[in-house]
Amino acid sequence: MAVAARSWQELFAARTRGEGGDGIAAILGLLARPELISFAGGFPDPKTFPAERAAQILRELADVGDASAFQYAPTQGLAGARAAFAARLEALQGVRPADDELLVTSGGIEALELVAKSFLERGDTVVVEGPTYVGAIMAFRGFEAGLAAVPLDADGLDVDELASRLAGGLRPKLLYTIPDHQNPAGVTLSLERRAALVELARRYGFLIVEDVAYRELGFGEAAPASLLSLGPDVVVQAGTTSKTFFPGVRLGWAAGPAEVVAQLVSAKQNTDQCAGALGQRLFEEYARRGWLDEQLERSRTLYARKWERLGAALERTMPAGVEWTRPNGGFFSWLTIPGGATELARRAADAGVAVVPGALFYADGGGDENLRLSFSMVGEELIDAGVERLAALL
Ligand SMILES: Cc1ncc(COP(=O)(O)O)c(C=O)c1O
Repeated sequence: MAVAARSWQELFAARTRGEGGDGIAAILGLLARPELISFAGGFPDPKTFPAERAAQILRELADVGDASAFQYAPTQGLAGARAAFAARLEALQGVRPADDELLVTSGGIEALELVAKSFLERGDTVVVEGPTYVGAIMAFRGFEAGLAAVPLDADGLDVDELASRLAGGLRPKLLYTIPDHQNPAGVTLSLERRAALVELARRYGFLIVEDVAYRELGFGEAAPASLLSLGPDVVVQAGTTSKTFFPGVRLGWAAGPAEVVAQLVSAKQNTDQCAGALGQRLFEEYARRGWLDEQLERSRTLYARKWERLGAALERTMPAGVEWTRPNGGFFSWLTIPGGATELARRAADAGVAVVPGALFYADGGGDENLRLSFSMVGEELIDAGVERLAALL
């Protein structure tokens, strides 16, 4: 075609030009180099994937002529899948969403996208954690929101700092938090702070977006009460089966006030209309048989063992001055390295180790002295060598 030789980028919508996309592409790029020992991507270990049992359920659905798995689903989700999610929330969080308080989504990221699409106008403010999940930064930026980052410490989001910024005039529509085994920092929000955060949402009239992607992957004691259970009037919870079942189904949920859920359902009608029925039926059957709980048990043991090995290797090799978080669940530890972690990440790749520079996880600057180490997918036998290579660069 003889069209003027210009870049199509000139025609892209302004709202798509926010930063962030290149960052994810860079992580995936690092992951794609098989020769690296990779602490880069937050992917679940394929050893946890239930291939045989998924195949068995599919076979059974085909044998009994169950058409629902192959048909379009209602936008809010199939009744059976919604019942399965509601039952899990009741069992694990002590809160059972009513029929109109729960929506099945195509993964956690879609739940965030639907919230962003439903609430955000250009220039609206979203409070995020500093650092936070890159996919959330992209979802909120995609609707031209301004992001305000509030720092984290070992007990999660600094809620006192948030309170003083709110008192000083900060007026967010949304506050996004990953309270359990946070991505990327690995920390968990204390119960006391959870209660205080819910009170702030009530006082200042913002919606808390609670991302529970890693909640079910604790290594020891149960996670503190979920924000949804503490403040069902001011919280929408975004969940995913990607880390607990497998990401190939692209399945998740949003649970919150009926008025909010109705708006998310409406927003979903012109994204993908419904989450894939095949995945919904698979998940429902898998959970009903108790297989999800069995898988979770094995996954927790596997990830706890990997963290133990990584933590021990860090203790053994890292020079004085380097600090790291000690997660009690999830996939990540967050390193603080005085003096230039971004350059270090580049040198690490040259030395055969993939790590993610911390700056990627900040919405408004920061992270120059941080690295995220993910231990979820790296082979256990490679952890020591990977950490040793990294330490040798310091
Ligand atoms: C905090 C957090 N939320 C959501 C997601 C995305 O989940 P899903 O695969 O369901 O879109 C991830 C995946 O890395 C995550 O780390």
